[in-house]
Formats: sequence, C-alpha cells, structure tokens
Amino acid sequence: MLKAVEWKDETLQFLDQTLLPEEEVYIETADYREVVEAIHQLKIRGAPLLGVAAAYGLCLGAIEGEKSKVRDLFSFLEKVDENLRTSRPTAVNLSWALDRLKNIWEKGKKEDWPPREVVNSLIDEAKKIEEEDYKNNEKIARHGAQLLEDGDRVLTHCNTGSLACSGWGTALGAISWAVLQEGKKIQVYADETRPLWQGARLTAFELMKNSIPVTVICDNMAGYLMSQKLVDKVIVGADRVTLQGDAANKIGTYSLAVLSHYHKIPFYMAFPLSSVDFNIKEGKEIPIEERNPEEVIAPRGMRIAPIGVGVRNPAFDVTPHHLITALITEKGIIYPPFEQTLSNWKTEV
Ligand code: MRU
Repeated sequence: MLKAVEWKDETLQFLDQTLLPEEEVYIETADYREVVEAIHQLKIRGAPLLGVAAAYGLCLGAIEGEKSKVRDLFSFLEKVDENLRTSRPTAVNLSWALDRLKNIWEKGKKEDWPPREVVNSLIDEAKKIEEEDYKNNEKIARHGAQLLEDGDRVLTHCNTGSLACSGWGTALGAISWAVLQEGKKIQVYADETRPLWQGARLTAFELMKNSIPVTVICDNMAGYLMSQKLVDKVIVGADRVTLQGDAANKIGTYSLAVLSHYHKIPFYMAFPLSSVDFNIKEGKEIPIEERNPEEVIAPRGMRIAPIGVGVRNPAFDVTPHHLITALITEKGIIYPPFEQTLSNWKTEV
C-alpha cells in the first residue's frame, strides 16, 4: 500500500503527488512551512490526508519552537496553526485535525507544561489521528464494497485511494477492497479530473499498481458512457459534508451526480466522519477554494488559451443530498434522509 505521508524521527516524509505518475519522489522535511506549501500546491492532497499532514505539520512547528527556545511556545503555535489552517479552505478534515491538536496545546498552556511535554503530547495525538484514519479507511472500504457486485462497471472521479488517506482510501478503497479482498471483477472508469488530473495521474497509477483494470476518460465523456449503458455505479469521495448530507467534492462531481440521476445510476459518496462539518446544514455554507487560473489555461506549463482570457478555477463543487443514493462512512451505509443519522453521530467524532 502506498504511504503518502509518514512520520519519521520527528520529521515528515511525503510523496510529492504533483510529480506522479512520472516520478515517485519522497521529500523529508522538519519545516512546517514546507508542509503548508506542500498542501497548498497539492503535493499532499485528499481530505483525510490533509488532516493527518496538518497535524504532523503542527508537531514540526512545536519541535521548532522547543528547539529554538522561542519566548512563548504557545503564541508560536498559534501562528503555525493559523498558517496550516488557511493552506486550503474546503476539506474540513484539516481544521478538524488542528482543532484536536489545539485542545492539547491549550491544556498545556493552562497547566504550564514544559515544552517537551507539549511536543510529545502533540505527536501522540497526530499519530492517533493517522491510526484512526487508517482503521476508518478499512471500515469504509468494507462497507462500500458491499454495494459493488461482481461484474460492475464503476465510474469514479478524482483520487480517493491511498494517496488521499492513511490506508485503503474511501471510494477507491471500496473498489480496491471489492477486487482484492472479495475477488469481484470490477471495471473501473476513472475521470481524468481536470484541471489537475488526479484521476488520470493518481487513480490510474494506484489501480495499475494493484493490477485493477482501469480505463481513463475525459470528464466530458461520462454522459456518453452512461447513455451507452456502460456505467453501473458511480462512487466518489467528499471534502466536506453538511448535516443534511450536501457534499463538496472535486469539481465535476456535481455534474456526475446530475448525470447519474438522469440515467438512474446509483451515486454513492464515501468519506470518514472527520469530513462532516456538523456546524453547517446546507451546502451553500461550504467555502469553495478558487485556485490559480494558470492551472486551467497553462496546465503543466503548456499554454492552451490566449493570454488575458477570463478564467474560473473553483476546485470543488457541492452535490445536494437529494442527488445522493447513499453515504458510506466508517459507521456504515446510510440512505436518505441523512440528517437524523448524521446528527446522532455528531458526538462520536
Ligand atoms: O484537490 P484535491 O486533490 O485535494 O481533491 C481531493 C478530492 O476531491 C477527493 O475526492 C476528496 O478529498 C476525498 S479523498 C478520500
């Protein structure tokens, strides 16, 4: 299984996902600023992994503060936290993980812990977040696999496997589990996922590593395939889910949900409860990241549109709950209406 981030002797090692699939380059850093930059540039990406990486990033900040004997470790941590928190706005896992760590260092501040105790407690919590994500991935994969039948042709979008999480992944984890653990034959269609090609570059790479048959299509080919009855199910991940079950995911997901609805194809979203924002009810409250226009008009340095043209580059869209057949979480599969069940789970996260 690919390990996209790894804590090693008080440094963080991560796979630079912008270079895949051509190059597998691992970077080791002790500088939290490099983690902030890696998150912003999508060297580290995928909602659950953002939570894990941000948590370890804060630990790097704490170690730096301890070693350099900053005057006030807690004000320093405040700054580190803020930098990590604002590195990407949509996936709620990032602030969810940082909130968990903040509870720890605020306790340390109140009780006047020595710097090493703060550092050690933060590292323990970050490791816990990673372990929980690993375990939840397996649960999500097992639950999701129940929805996939032998012979299914399954369409997915973006990348939701080991590169986006600590273990099997979410939507892609369910597909991989069905094939590798249950021996089901699944044909996967991977949307290329413009503008940054997480589907073509990362999902295809991951599945091929595991010898799972995958066919890449341009995003605008999904409707045609559905009209030809070549897609049995759609399964994707999520970056932030509201109480009523509206879900932000990679741009293009909403179009797939609409197409699935029209063609009466089941549309599933898989995610850990750390991706649920229990403070908001409706999708319109989710902050949507708008990225650099160059990603659209000069992908990988190749200019494809005239200089000066107007460009939009929202990185995510929101799928309203009524277009979702079922939600797959570590606690099981839920069918509409989602709100009551999600509210009941609020206290368990
Ligand atoms: O911009 P990215 O590559 O971080 O977007 C990732 C996605 O949209 C994934 O579908 C989502 O984070 C779920 S990952 C299990």
